[in-house]
Amino acid sequence: MFENLSALPADPILGLMAAFRQDPNPDKVDLGVGVYRDDDGNTPILGSVIEAQRRHNDSETTKSYIGPPGEPDFNLSLQHVLFGATHAAITAGRVGSAQTPGGCGALRVAAELLNRAKPGARIWVSDPTWANHVPLLGDAGLTIETYPYFDRDNSELRFDDMMTTLAQVGSGDLVLLHGCCHNPCGVDLDPGQWIALADLALQQGFTPFIDIAYQGLSTGLDEDAFGVRLMAEKVPELLVASSCSKNFGLYRERVGCLAVVSPDAGTAETLQSQMLNVIRGIYSMPPNHGGAIVRMILNDPALTRQWQDELAQMRTRINGLRDQLATKLVERLDSDRFDFIRRQRGMFSFLGIDNAQIVELRERFSIYMVDSSRINVAGLNSHNIDYACDAIASII
Ligand code: LMR
Repeated sequence: MFENLSALPADPILGLMAAFRQDPNPDKVDLGVGVYRDDDGNTPILGSVIEAQRRHNDSETTKSYIGPPGEPDFNLSLQHVLFGATHAAITAGRVGSAQTPGGCGALRVAAELLNRAKPGARIWVSDPTWANHVPLLGDAGLTIETYPYFDRDNSELRFDDMMTTLAQVGSGDLVLLHGCCHNPCGVDLDPGQWIALADLALQQGFTPFIDIAYQGLSTGLDEDAFGVRLMAEKVPELLVASSCSKNFGLYRERVGCLAVVSPDAGTAETLQSQMLNVIRGIYSMPPNHGGAIVRMILNDPALTRQWQDELAQMRTRINGLRDQLATKLVERLDSDRFDFIRRQRGMFSFLGIDNAQIVELRERFSIYMVDSSRINVAGLNSHNIDYACDAIASII
């Protein structure tokens, strides 16, 4: 049966986690997989999550099925986080959504839904984009195209090139955008650029699809949703895949949400029925636990405040690390080559070093990063940042 299958290399991001675990060097530094870490290098469970989990465990009375869309309360609360509670698309009944197993689940359900609507539909992704976008969308049958996004030589956005390419994209095509904290390059659209892009989407008729896996980790929960809210207001059709892995720290619980904005309430009902049918055919229904915790937090004002404070602490820490890293590298290299790190947002930036330098950092210093030179800034802390900066300076 399986004679034709050959062994595959480990996933470029997840494979690094395994290699890091096996490295015996006590000074090793993990700048690979995108998980938040505190100053001791741990990925803690948020206090709001611990409390919500306790209450959930105390009050749970059944383990019966929850159904393909997940809990209605979860979906409504997440819509409010994404769009704002009073967004016109919600009040007009234009938004349908489902709780999914992580942001990956949302991306895959969306891809299957899109492939039903238009088999082999073209989806334009940024160059570069998160490595897992390609299998999540492409394996469902969508055709992947790329638009220019990041200028590797100058570590900045190629906005004009992006707009020129997207001005050739028309109705029936999709454009995948990162809502905030672009993974892997850390460069986001500013509000003026989002507005220009929304106008282009309207003019050209393509459908925006926003992946927002880091809401709250750039500037704030509302600020980071600027693009989502604007698009939902301006364009007739929009897809949004969101994740609770990073902003609730619920990585292994696999909780996310797919929201589909339709031109009118009738179409929204049709699409919701299709979405639920897709889900039933893949994994039947999402796991409950992570969604129950999110639901509990978002429906209790004190827990919501606690979660928002904890999210703000993570955000402040990441942005502070960006500043420190840039400053320390400027000091060591007497050059502003890495100053862009300060201006970028979220967990990731490209260091912009070559493969031999990446290998040298791994083999000589046990500093791990993705082969593209993407680093997870949150992997730095007061104990390892000088070691990492010395090592980086020594291989430049
Ligand atoms: C990352 O990009 O490192 C994270 O989103 C984790 C993953 O699943 O790749």
